[in-house]
Amino acid sequence: MLTFLAVAWLCILPSCATSLTPSKEAARQRAPQIFNAVHDAMRQWGSSVHHNGMSFFLATVPEGVLLHHGNNQPNSPTEPDWLAYEIEHAEGFARGRRPRPPPHVSNQEGDQQRISEKPPGPPADSEGGWLHVYRTTRPLQFLYVDGMSAGKTKMGTLDTQDYILRGLDKDSRDEWSTEKGGRPKSGGPMGERDRANELCKQCKEWNIQGVIRMETGFEIIKCDFSDGLEQVQALKRPPPTGQGHGRRGIAGMEFVRGLSERYQGIGSSRTMIDYSSMVSAFFFPLNLTNSDAARPDLPRLSNNSESDLTAVKAYLDSSIEERRANALRTRDWQDISDMIVSRYADRLQFMADGISSVQTMEEEITFLLDVFIDYSDSKNPDLSAAVDRCTRFYVRGISATTEVDYLLYAAFISVSERICKSLFTIRELVADSGLSTSQSLGAAVKEAKDLIEFLDWSRFKRCPACAVDEVCVIPMWPMGTVEDYYHPHCTNATSMDDGESYWGNRPGPPGDGNGRPGKPGYGPP
Ligand SMILES: *[C@@H]1O[C@H](CO)[C@@H](O)[C@H](O)[C@H]1NC(C)=O
Ligand SMILES: *[C@@H]1O[C@H](CO)[C@@H](O)[C@H](O)[C@H]1NC(C)=O
Ligand SMILES: *[C@@H]1O[C@H](CO)[C@@H](O)[C@H](O)[C@H]1NC(C)=O
Repeated sequence: MLTFLAVAWLCILPSCATSLTPSKEAARQRAPQIFNAVHDAMRQWGSSVHHNGMSFFLATVPEGVLLHHGNNQPNSPTEPDWLAYEIEHAEGFARGRRPRPPPHVSNQEGDQQRISEKPPGPPADSEGGWLHVYRTTRPLQFLYVDGMSAGKTKMGTLDTQDYILRGLDKDSRDEWSTEKGGRPKSGGPMGERDRANELCKQCKEWNIQGVIRMETGFEIIKCDFSDGLEQVQALKRPPPTGQGHGRRGIAGMEFVRGLSERYQGIGSSRTMIDYSSMVSAFFFPLNLTNSDAARPDLPRLSNNSESDLTAVKAYLDSSIEERRANALRTRDWQDISDMIVSRYADRLQFMADGISSVQTMEEEITFLLDVFIDYSDSKNPDLSAAVDRCTRFYVRGISATTEVDYLLYAAFISVSERICKSLFTIRELVADSGLSTSQSLGAAVKEAKDLIEFLDWSRFKRCPACAVDEVCVIPMWPMGTVEDYYHPHCTNATSMDDGESYWGNRPGPPGDGNGRPGKPGYGPP
């Protein structure tokens, strides 16, 4: 309600006459993307599959959570800096001084860049840095920017930060991304120092403590290390040996194994998201079409007017204002998405790929749908009532109260309705006596495949369980190959990162930096 008021109030201003607002219509049109954004939030796997995030959420890190920071000195940072959720992620930055970086770049950012551009071979550092461990001393509130939002790529992973939060126009934004090696004239490697400072200026206005993002691990841009953190330890690292921090070998594999523990969630109640605070570009009638025709799957913000992007930002401002003090739900929208995905994902894949007889298909579909059918009239059950029951089944778990809840409700109902209609279509197809068995089966399989394509759940890309000397790999900036993105698979320490870089940002066989193959042999099926 407050949000309605806030937006209505804003629109008293003359400039607001045409101001863009979120709509249920837009939410329905982008229903699968909205559902996936909720389902993938704070999950390393889904956020790597759908790496161009388009959404923001308020998130709380409770008291007593350990966070990590690597740098080249025993002291805590005195300006905005990075905290890692995983030890290994911070260890990569716990390096001593090296001859680079150039003078306008702070040492910390030199470290930040080092992880992404480190050439193979022993590092030039002559000594180890410091690994700091902090504990939160009270609940801290952050803006979570979803997707691979710490991935310094040209593919759109930074769009929500650069276009919406920072309000950059295309030209100033292109400055860091177009220059060779991602090294801009100013603003730190890949614009990260400017980005962190500007985001923290925003956070100060919002009265929150920083920004949560993701790359090879979740991280926090913590605006003030003296606020809400207590240092638990700060230990000097041994001199670098030239082994142990590369992406290959045991340490590289173990880093990925650590991240794979977070594929399905950050774990251990380390962060709670307020889904009713979600502000998503998917809620607005924006043009999210990618100008790179080879990647229609990746949404972009680059083709929208400044006033439309400003309207999204204004909505975010009011949403943060409204939700900042709200209690978190005990059951949230991600819980609902989990119930839906866990009920249908493997069964849909089984129907699409694993069933070769009409009879099995019939048994499977009966198993899934009987719960929704009233067999009082067993010859002629009311199927439209059954579809309706199926559509509303899981969404009953939440009562919508905020405007965002109603947008999420519209998106979830659309997704659920599509699932239910498709499943009841399959039920009809396998019972259709006018079709041959192979026609029935073929049509049912096609329906299941179309549904899977529509839903585009990150779960569909999941690896089977891996052997203990292997981990399931998907590109997580800056690591990973084109093959890893399209066909994630179990990989051992020796074959880790073998192939063409997905992100095109490091030595090795060249990709074009757009997640596309630079040479034949890799790519989408
Ligand atoms: C939307 O953006 C795409 C990619 O930049 C562009 O080609 C297209 O013309 C835009 N559509 C509209 C209606 O502006
Ligand atoms: C969107 O893309 C089209 C086609 O490239 C271009 O003509 C138009 O100016 C762009 N609009 C904005 C707002 O960037
Ligand atoms: C690692 O995997 C590759 C490719 O599957 C295989 O050829 C190699 O033998 C494996 N190495 C070890 C040490 O198991």
